[in-house]
Amino acid sequence: MSNKRALVTGASDGIGLEFCDILATRGYDLVLVARRKDKLNQVGAALTHRHGITCTVIAADLSKPQAAQQLFQHTNEQHLKIDFLVNNAGLLHNGFFTELSLAEQERMITVNVLALTSLSYLYANDMASRHKGYILNLASLAAWMAIPNQNVYAATKAYVLSFSQALGNEMNAANSGVMVSALCPGYTATKMMDNPEQGAKLHIAANMMMSAKAVAESGIRGCLAGKSVIVPGVANKLATGITRLLSKTVLTRLVGSFYRKNMD
Ligand SMILES: NC(=O)c1ccc[n+]([C@@H]2O[C@H](COP(=O)([O-])OP(=O)(O)OC[C@H]3O[C@@H](n4cnc5c(N)ncnc54)[C@H](OP(=O)(O)O)[C@@H]3O)[C@@H](O)[C@H]2O)c1
Repeated sequence: MSNKRALVTGASDGIGLEFCDILATRGYDLVLVARRKDKLNQVGAALTHRHGITCTVIAADLSKPQAAQQLFQHTNEQHLKIDFLVNNAGLLHNGFFTELSLAEQERMITVNVLALTSLSYLYANDMASRHKGYILNLASLAAWMAIPNQNVYAATKAYVLSFSQALGNEMNAANSGVMVSALCPGYTATKMMDNPEQGAKLHIAANMMMSAKAVAESGIRGCLAGKSVIVPGVANKLATGITRLLSKTVLTRLVGSFYRKNMD
């Protein structure tokens, strides 16, 4: 029987699904978290069938108050110790800040920032008490720049990158045994890139996108290898290099013009 267990938020789709598959291949039992319980049950059954691991499904809406605390309490009550936390669930809304609904933007901040921070807090303490654990937080290439028309989204991801780097340093300095990594994917071929529920559509050529599988593989490998910031793919690494060369003012102008041209 496996004694390693990973919890993946946003496990019902996209990059989250691939995290689950990769972790299952590596022998982790899984706790699958997202809103759609039926979808999670299907994913869990398929993973159990393919890899012989145990899957526990917890349906949770991480935009609700106290969702992270309730999830932590739930795993504790079921004696589900978590060795690897993947804070993957995230929301994106495209468009002018003043034209998007305030409620949607608040939800984005709650899921992308608040839930991720609370889950990191709760499970980092728990892992530190056992002197072992991994936390992989989903930032984005968007964390490296201000993005007009993805204003709040990019700011939430800048928070995730900064927060994860600082937390990783603290955990390391305290010899806690807990590794914290931020994964910064660029455009990745998932529903997030083509979702009518998320405001304006950003048109990106298919050859500019990585597969969700390659992104997830790079994240798990990087985190297990002790990398604090993981940028998957050569093109994305080049892009982070360019963001370092340009002033923030120039970069924001260039990115703003690109997004206005390619969004409708
Ligand atoms: N795709 C990209 O180009 C890209 C690039 C950089 C970073 N990222 C980041 O990578 C992560 C995964 O993105 P993705 O592209 O795989 O997105 P996705 O295909 O849209 O999947 C999002 C996942 O999050 C879950 N989710 C959404 N809202 C939730 C909520 N309120 N509570 C709980 N779960 C919720 C969804 O499941 P339910 O609907 O069942 O709840 C789904 O499983 C995100 O953090 C995203 O910001 C993506």
